Amino acid sequence: MILADFLVEQWLNPMDSKAEHNFGTSCVKALTMDELFRVTEQDENAFLKDLSTMSLHYHHGDSTGSPRVKKAVAGLYPKADVDPKHVMMVHGGTGANDIVIMGLLEKGDNIVVIKPTYQQHYDIPKSMGIETRIVQLKEEEEYLLNMKELSKAVDGNTKLIALSNPNNPTGATLYEDGLQELVEIARSVDAYILCDEIYRGMDETYMPSILDFGYDKAISVSSLSKMFSMAGTRIGWIVTKDEYAYKNFENRRSYNTICCGIIDEIVGAIAMENYKKVWARARSILAPNKQMVYDWVKTQPHLSLHGDAKGTTCLIRYDYDITSTDMAVDAMEKARILLCHGACFDEEPAFRLGYGGFTDRNQLQESLDALSDYLKTLE
Ligand SMILES: Cc1ncc(COP(=O)(O)O)c(C=O)c1O
Repeated sequence: MILADFLVEQWLNPMDSKAEHNFGTSCVKALTMDELFRVTEQDENAFLKDLSTMSLHYHHGDSTGSPRVKKAVAGLYPKADVDPKHVMMVHGGTGANDIVIMGLLEKGDNIVVIKPTYQQHYDIPKSMGIETRIVQLKEEEEYLLNMKELSKAVDGNTKLIALSNPNNPTGATLYEDGLQELVEIARSVDAYILCDEIYRGMDETYMPSILDFGYDKAISVSSLSKMFSMAGTRIGWIVTKDEYAYKNFENRRSYNTICCGIIDEIVGAIAMENYKKVWARARSILAPNKQMVYDWVKTQPHLSLHGDAKGTTCLIRYDYDITSTDMAVDAMEKARILLCHGACFDEEPAFRLGYGGFTDRNQLQESLDALSDYLKTLE
C-alpha cells in the first residue's frame, strides 16, 4: 500500500533555513559542540584527544549501542529499573517509531493511535494494511486522553497502542494517574504501548515515563532531537523489557540500521550522562517563551489555545476563512513566517506554533509582532 506523504517533514525541512520567523521547528535551539561541553561541564580537549585515536570501525562489540551510551539512556529512567540490555540505539525518533511499528504489527492485528500525533504512528501501519483505529484528543478536554474512549477502541486483536507524551502538536501531557490508567487498559487486552517520549523533560519536577508502571509491554522511544537540542546527531533509542519485542526490533534494525554512528553515540552519551543540565538549559529557553506565546494568543481576537503545553509546541485554532495549508504557504511567501499547518495533523483550522527555537526574547517578540501583522491581513 502507498505510504502517505509525510506532511510535517515535507513542509518544514525545505523551509527551515528560509524562514525569518521560525515557529515551525519543534526542536529546542540546537547546541553547538562548544556549548555542549560548557553546559555539561565536561572536558572538550579530553574528548577530542580520545576521538583522534579512535577506530572508525562499525560498532565496537555491541551493535545495539555502545555500553556507555546504553547505560546513559538507562539513566534517563530512574524509576523504571532499566538495564542497558533493555536499550537499543537507533537512527532518531523516526527510526525508533518505524522499527517498533514495523517490528511488531502483523496481519490480523489492529493498532489504536491517540491523535493528533506524529504521522508515523498512523500512516506507517495504514501502509502495511493494518487496521488503524483512532482515539481523538479533543480541545474541550484540554487534549487529554479520554480513557473511556480508549477502552472502547481496544479489543483482543489490539497489538499496539501508540501515542506521543508529551503530545505533538498540543503539548498535552499524561502524568502518573493517566499513564497508570493507560497501562491498565493495555494490560486488559495484552497490548504493547508505544509511547513516544521525545518531548519529556520540560517540567522542573520528575516527569514519568511509560516504563515506570511495571508493565513489560511498555515501550519508550525517544531521541536527542528535542529536549537535548542535538537533532543532527540522529541518535534515538527504544527501551523495552519485553524480550520478544526486543528481538523483533533487533532483527528489523539489522535490515535498516546495523548500528548508529559511533561518534554520535559518544556525543550523545556526554549529553545524557548530564541530562539534568541539558534539560535545564532547554527549560530556561522553553518556559519564558511559552509564557510569551500564551500571553500573545490572549491579545489575538481570532485565535484560541487550549491545554497546557509541556513540550515545545502548542496547537492554535483560528477563525479566519483560509485553510491551514494556504495560511502556512501565504505566511511564508508574504512574511517569511514559518508555521506548521494543522493539516499535517488532520487538525483544521489550526496551526502548530513551536516556541523552542528562540534563545533571544526580543527576537521572539519581533516574530510574534510579525505574526500579528500577518494575521491582520487575513481579517
Ligand atoms: C513525536 C515525535 N517523534 C519523533 C520525531 C522525530 O524525531 P527525530 O529527529 O529524532 O527523528 C518527532 C519530530 O518532530 C516527533 O515530534
